[in-house]
Amino acid sequence: MKRPVFSKNTSTSVALYARYHSDLVAAQYCDAHYGPDKFGVPNFSKRMVQLCTTAMKEGSHRNALDLGCAVGRSTFELASHFDQVTGIDYSTRFIDIANRIKKNGWACYQLPEEGVLISDHEISLSDHDLAETAHKVSFFQGDTLNLEPRFCDYDLILAANLIDRLSEPRKFLAHIHKRLLVGGLLVIASPYNWLDQFTPRKQWLGGRFRAGSPLNSLEGIGRKLSKHFIMIDEPQEVECVIRETARTFRHCNSQATLWRRIR
Ligand SMILES: C[S@@+](CC[C@H](N)C(=O)[O-])C[C@H]1O[C@@H](n2cnc3c(N)ncnc32)[C@H](O)[C@@H]1O
Repeated sequence: MKRPVFSKNTSTSVALYARYHSDLVAAQYCDAHYGPDKFGVPNFSKRMVQLCTTAMKEGSHRNALDLGCAVGRSTFELASHFDQVTGIDYSTRFIDIANRIKKNGWACYQLPEEGVLISDHEISLSDHDLAETAHKVSFFQGDTLNLEPRFCDYDLILAANLIDRLSEPRKFLAHIHKRLLVGGLLVIASPYNWLDQFTPRKQWLGGRFRAGSPLNSLEGIGRKLSKHFIMIDEPQEVECVIRETARTFRHCNSQATLWRRIR
């Protein structure tokens, strides 16, 4: 791990605070994607891609799509196994950072340590043996719920920690087969943290009552996908750790499920 260099954080005005807050979220994703492992938990994005490629040993590895790619670690990881990988995220800021990492091979970010103390960090693709993947990835700002028609015919679609951030996850599940080749794999991972601020309650795939009975999210996903997909393998729990300050971390388990398009 590189030694942090300390900077002065002088953000005091509301505008500066808003800027600082969005920088902070972007920095947290940079650190979660490219920074050091925390508490011995393997890198979440890398682990997700291992699950995808293990399940796809036999299949075609031409095109993959990474939806909600944030700052792009899983997109680069997928490009170690696929000819072309497209990463799409709603956030222009995240896509700008992903594109800068693609272009330069590195990025800098600042993380809070304690109080107003912040530290400077630098990460690079070569630290992760990903420098040779950059020419195979393309990043676009876009909405998963309203994708351009050209984003189609994929062998793999990864949606990691995305569905519980969508306003219409049912619409996503009802239409995603059109983007995938028959025989292709859809991989969904989510901690199912349903929140009204992102997803209106009637859209929640689980974590609520349906006709008086509890509905869990895996059941809800299965119902929506059953027309075009079968689930392969057992669901797996994949850990994710995000650093907030030097001594505060968020730790969650995402349930990863793999779905083969059969019709
Ligand atoms: C919880 S983060 C997960 C990021 C990344 N997949 C990971 O596992 O670290 C959710 C991401 O989905 C993006 N997102 C939310 N709604 C989206 C949408 N409608 N279309 C595309 N991306 C979206 C957010 O900007 C954010 O980067």
